Amino acid sequence: MTDQTLLTIDDIDVVYDVDPPVHAVRGVSLRLERGEILGLAGESGCGKTTLAYAIQRLLRPPAVISAGGVIFHDRDGDDIDITALGTDALRRFRWDKVSMVFQGAMNALNPVKNIGSQLEDVFLTHRPEMSRAERRAQCAELLEIVQVGRDRLRSYPHELSGGMRQRVMIAMALALKPQLMIMDEPTTALDVLIQREILQQISELRSRFGFSVIFITHDLPLLLEISDRIAIMKAGEIVELDTPANIYRGARHEYTRTLLSSFPSLTGDRGGFLRTGEAR
Ligand SMILES: Nc1ncnc2c1ncn2[C@@H]1O[C@H](COP(=O)(O)OP(=O)(O)O)[C@@H](O)[C@H]1O
Ligand SMILES: [Mg+2]
Repeated sequence: MTDQTLLTIDDIDVVYDVDPPVHAVRGVSLRLERGEILGLAGESGCGKTTLAYAIQRLLRPPAVISAGGVIFHDRDGDDIDITALGTDALRRFRWDKVSMVFQGAMNALNPVKNIGSQLEDVFLTHRPEMSRAERRAQCAELLEIVQVGRDRLRSYPHELSGGMRQRVMIAMALALKPQLMIMDEPTTALDVLIQREILQQISELRSRFGFSVIFITHDLPLLLEISDRIAIMKAGEIVELDTPANIYRGARHEYTRTLLSSFPSLTGDRGGFLRTGEAR
């Protein structure tokens, strides 16, 4: 571990205890650096969401973490063993230190509450000491940061495009200035151009605020431009972990090559990577 390590995942196993049991995550070990964007790719059902949930202890029965552990190396120097946290500590940990944009989250906004009050709820719950004025100021600022604009505070979800709703979810995830943001297929439902804009913005926000990102998708080509490293998952295991350039040039696994070639978009709107021939 270096001083820069934020998260150490050590040989973790997750089993869904059904009949027959599903061994969804198998001996995954991973070190995430501070400020790093790690792309996690792999086809549907390979265990990406299960791993993301395990990192935050969000798994519910029948899921069981049957082996391994996760240590969070806090900014203030504490090493937090996530597998040992009690309920209250876990709740604080989740929004304060690690936040998540869930798969399909942009459709999870409350349709009868405006955007501003949904953002405010995050502060009401987690920063009860904040004054109303302070809360409102922060919500407005958050909407500016994700380029939705403060004039949308009173808008309802149905008045916003899918891309804007997704930005609102990102604003919520950023609200408490977490050290890690996990995004589970956050842009899958959006068109390619919007997806790309949002990805670029996440990359900029990361540079500005210094958080780490685990960005999950089944769309590997999408990760090539914004990731510092990419982990490829297959059947519960990480089978490859490398820089985008190395993944692109010389994917060692047949499986990675298949993932790369299975998306026609590689030669379409996301062609920036191919044109320059370089990963960032
Ligand atoms: N609640 C559950 N009960 C039983 N099996 C599950 C459950 N949730 C997920 N699985 C299985 O675990 C494996 C990994 O699923 P998941 O983590 O959702 O994959 P991904 O996010 O990569 O699509 C799959 O085989 C899936 O069917
Ligand atoms: Mg998933």
